[in-house]
Amino acid sequence: MNKNVTKIALIALALSTASSALGAGKLEIFSWWSGDEAPALDALVKLYSAKYPSVAVDNATVSGGAGTNAKAVLKTRMLGGTPPDSFQAHAGQELIGTWVVAGRMEDLSGLFKSEGWDKIFPQSVLRLISTKGQIWSVPVNVHRSNVMWYNPAKLKEWGVTPPKTWGQFLSTCATLKGKGLASPLVMGENWTQQHLWESVMIGSLGPSGWNNLWSGKMKFTDPRVVSAFTTYGKVLDCANTDASGLSWQQASDRIVDGSAAFNIMGDWAAGYYTTTKKLTPGTGFGFSPSPGTNGTFVMLADSFGLPKGVKDRAEAINWLKVLGSKQGQDTFNPLKGSIAARIDSDVSKYNTYSQSAARDWRRSTIVGSMVHGAVAPESFTSAFGAVIDQFVSSKDAQGAAAAAQELAVRAKIGQ
Ligand code: GAL
Repeated sequence: MNKNVTKIALIALALSTASSALGAGKLEIFSWWSGDEAPALDALVKLYSAKYPSVAVDNATVSGGAGTNAKAVLKTRMLGGTPPDSFQAHAGQELIGTWVVAGRMEDLSGLFKSEGWDKIFPQSVLRLISTKGQIWSVPVNVHRSNVMWYNPAKLKEWGVTPPKTWGQFLSTCATLKGKGLASPLVMGENWTQQHLWESVMIGSLGPSGWNNLWSGKMKFTDPRVVSAFTTYGKVLDCANTDASGLSWQQASDRIVDGSAAFNIMGDWAAGYYTTTKKLTPGTGFGFSPSPGTNGTFVMLADSFGLPKGVKDRAEAINWLKVLGSKQGQDTFNPLKGSIAARIDSDVSKYNTYSQSAARDWRRSTIVGSMVHGAVAPESFTSAFGAVIDQFVSSKDAQGAAAAAQELAVRAKIGQ
């Protein structure tokens, strides 16, 4: 009996070793890139499947911009002991402040060394994904958050140009309202309102002021921050009143159909306009840095990590290898609207929007996005939506600044 059991176990072991050498098996990846957001990920999965044809890929997605829904489902799975083989998380505090501190992720520094990634990803990105020499996820891209999108033909028709400061934005808004455009600015659900807030803050405080908020050198109750909140309130007066019911894609549509003049959104909007809507950068849609942020690149990066104890570890590592590769990044990013995180990407594969983003990435002051997980402790980021919700209805700048400061203290910013 015992002999038989041992024999069966040995056969099973031999089979599983043989199958993982061949790459046979399963792989479950988890992200929020579904529907309109899916084409870039689909192309990456296709590339993986071409390399590992016998692996069945379960591309599990939970839709909802910025991962608002996916992060909650991921939490249930991680805590329930059924982690996906690899999951999407923003490079930075979103992963480090959660599953890394909880000891649930594998250190990938060995993989970075063996793949040569410690030399091929820029230091600014490596710093974001590392703690004390350990590296926690593989970045697939760099997105820019501080972009203002518009419809060039409509701006021409209205006789306005893209405003360069928030002051100019407010006067352009008044002009457009005078011409009968009820809401010159379009925004969507809560996280897009936070996204707009981030651009107003950085455009008002400058990149070093923004960094000082996260190092604790500047308090949220500082008069400059209160004043930026006041500006944000005025900017909100230019926006649509049905925002809470709109996805970021629906908000982006209003630029195309001319029912709004401006939208502040990350450059996944470029992916949506070019890949889904088949528009041409510069004519089908226009773009400029959000007001007051010329020379600043507010960055975030999507990355994938490897939870401890996954079912299909070998397949997951192969997945990470594909998404960190030059071919992987230059397959994914031209469709996504982002640029490669790698420094050796082939720019000829990208459209003119992305080429301009790549140029700006090299020559701008780089700061991290709060809303998209790069710069602030996760406990701050996850609670900040309530501050914005409250502010959108009260427009109480002092009150919002005090509430944000309370969150900063609780999140131990600057301590
Ligand atoms: C961001 C993410 C982007 C894009 C966007 C909208 O947080 O980094 O890749 O998916 O949300 O969902």
